[in-house]
Amino acid sequence: MARVRESPLYSKDKIAEVVAGTDLVALVRQFVDLKRTGNSYVGICPFHTEKTASFHVTPEKGVYHCFGCGAGGNALTFIMGMNKLSFPEAMEELARSAGVALPREKRSVDKDSGFNRQDFYDVMNRAAILYQNLLWAQPEPEAMTYLRSRGISLDLARSYQLGLSFNGWEYLRGALKKEGFDDLLLAEAGLTRARQTPGAGFYDVFRNRLMIPVCDPQGRAVAFAGRTLPSETNPEVAKYINSPSTAIYHKGNLLYGFHQARSHLRGAGLAFLVEGYFDLLSLVQAKVQNVVASMGTAVTQAQINLLRGQVKEVYLLFDGDAAGRKAASRALPYLLNVELDGKVITLPDGEDPDTFIRKRGSEGLYEVAEKAKDIIDYYIEGLLADCGPTLGGESRAIREARETLGHVPDLAKGELLRRKLAKKLNIDPNVLKVRPQSPPAKTPEKPVEVRDPAKTVTHIAQEILVLIIVHPELAKNLPALAPYWPQDASFPVYEALTAQFKESGQIAPEKIHLEENQEISSIISGALLSPRTKKPEDAAVIFNEMIISLKALAAKAEQMDKSQALKAAEKEGNEELVKTLAQEKAALPHPLMSKMKPQ
Ligand code: UTP
Ligand code: MN
Repeated sequence: MARVRESPLYSKDKIAEVVAGTDLVALVRQFVDLKRTGNSYVGICPFHTEKTASFHVTPEKGVYHCFGCGAGGNALTFIMGMNKLSFPEAMEELARSAGVALPREKRSVDKDSGFNRQDFYDVMNRAAILYQNLLWAQPEPEAMTYLRSRGISLDLARSYQLGLSFNGWEYLRGALKKEGFDDLLLAEAGLTRARQTPGAGFYDVFRNRLMIPVCDPQGRAVAFAGRTLPSETNPEVAKYINSPSTAIYHKGNLLYGFHQARSHLRGAGLAFLVEGYFDLLSLVQAKVQNVVASMGTAVTQAQINLLRGQVKEVYLLFDGDAAGRKAASRALPYLLNVELDGKVITLPDGEDPDTFIRKRGSEGLYEVAEKAKDIIDYYIEGLLADCGPTLGGESRAIREARETLGHVPDLAKGELLRRKLAKKLNIDPNVLKVRPQSPPAKTPEKPVEVRDPAKTVTHIAQEILVLIIVHPELAKNLPALAPYWPQDASFPVYEALTAQFKESGQIAPEKIHLEENQEISSIISGALLSPRTKKPEDAAVIFNEMIISLKALAAKAEQMDKSQALKAAEKEGNEELVKTLAQEKAALPHPLMSKMKPQ
C-alpha cells in the first residue's frame, strides 16, 4: 500500500520523550482551574464557553478531552491550541520545560522576523533582569524614590520585577550584544531601534524610564512598558512607551498581572479589572491580589477569555470619568459571550482606582464593590443618559445598542440584553434585531447532495477505532482490515494500533501521536476517557456491522475512482487506457456483493 508521508520533523521517540516529560495536569492548570475526581481532573473547558465543567484530564493516559465541544488530545495538542502554536513551536516549548534537548538544526523560525520564538523569550528575559539590576544597583536612585512616593514597597517592586532603563542611548544594546544577542533580534523585540542613517547602528528605545515587564500567563516577560520619571519635564514626551507586537506578544491578548493574580482569582472567584499598571500595583499593595489590568486599550475578547475558567464574576474598576464609563460599557458584550457576570464599580468623582485605594484602603474598595451595578443595567443607564430623550437621541441609542448587540454573536446570549434594552428604550425588541452584514442570498432549493462515500467511510473508520479503543478485545480484527481501510487521517492511527497488536497482542492507544491530526486526536482522547457502556457481545455485533459497511464503502469508493479515471481517459481519447480501466472496473466486485456476503 503506497502512501507518501511527509517526513516528520522530529522522530517519534523525540516526540514521545517530550510528551512523557511533561506534567499534563500542571500544564493545563496554567490555564484551567482543575479539580481532582478519582484518577482524573475536571474543569471548565478553555476551548469553548460553558458553565458546567466537561473538560477532563487523565494524567495516567496522558490525554485531555472535553465532552462538551469534543476538543481533545495530549500535552502537545493542548499547548498548540491554547497558545496558537505550530507543532514544531509546541515541541520546542514543551521540550524546554521538560529538559529534553532538540536538534538545533530543526529550530522553527517566525516568518516575520526570522528568529525563533525562544530567542525572543531569552532576550526579553535578559532585558528584564538587566533593568531590574539597574533599579537595585544604586542605593536611592530616582526611580526608587518615585516608587516610594507612589506607595509601592520594595517587596512589591521585586515581585513584579520592576526595573529601570539606563539614561543613555546604547546601554541595553551594548550589554545584550556582549551576551551574544543579535542586533536584529533586539530590534525585532522592540528593545532597540535602527538609527535614521543606514548602517549607523541601533539605539535603546527605553531610556531613563521605570520599566514594567508584561508577562504571559506562564510568567515569561514578553513586553515592557516604560513610564516616565518625575525628572522628565517635557510635556510632549509620552507617559508610557510600550513594546510593539512581536512573535511572542500580541497587543490586546494579555492582561497585566494575570500570572501573579491567578491563584488569587481562583480563590476569590472574582476578578477586579482595572486599566492602569499603577492601579493594579496600588491594589496589590493594599492586599487586593485578585486584580488584573487591561493596559489602557479597550478591553478585548481575548483578555476576557483569560478570565473565563478562573472566575465567575468580573468587577470593572475604571476611572470615574466619561472615558472610564465608556470603557466599562465596551466590555459588556465580551463578558456576555463567555457567560461571565460583570459588575461596574463607580468611584467618586475625580478618583481613579489608584488614588481611591490609597485613601480608603481595601475596606473602602469592598464598600463600593458591594454597591456595584450589574453591567447590563449600567450599560443601559449610560446609553439613556448619553443619548437623551430627543428623537435624534433615541435613534442614536438604537444604533449604539445594535452595535453592542452585534458583538454578541450567540442569539440566546444576546436575547436577554436585547429584551432589556428594548424595554428601557420603550421600543419593540425586533427593532434591535441585528441585521446580518449582507442579507443572505436566497438559496435555491438545495441540489440533491451527491453523497461522498469517502466521507462516510471516514466516519465509519473513526467509529471502528473508537469501538476498538473502548473494547480492546476487538483489536484482534485489526490486521484483516488493511485492504479496506481508507487513506484518510485515521490511517496512521489504524496502522499504529495494528502494529502494536502484531507486536504485543495488545493495543496501547495512549501511545499514539495525537498531535499529528486534530480531528483524530479528539476522537481518540474521547474514546480513551469513555466508559465501557456495552456488553462485550453487543460490542462484537456492532463491530461486525461496521466492518460490513466499511467493506461495502471501500468497494464503492474503488468503483467511483475507476469511473472517474475512465471518464478522464475517455475525454483524453486515450483508447488504450479506456480499455484497461473498463476491464478493471468490470472485474471489481459490486459494492452490494460485499454487503450481502460478508466473509
Ligand atoms: P493612566 O494614565 O491612568 O496610567 O493610563 P497609570 O498607569 O494609572 O499611571 P499614573 O497613575 O498616571 O502614573 C492607564 C493605562 O493606559 C496605558 C497604560 O497601560 C496605563 O497604565 N497608557 C496610558 C499607555 O499605554 N500610554 C500612555 O501614554 C498612557
Ligand atoms: Mn493612574
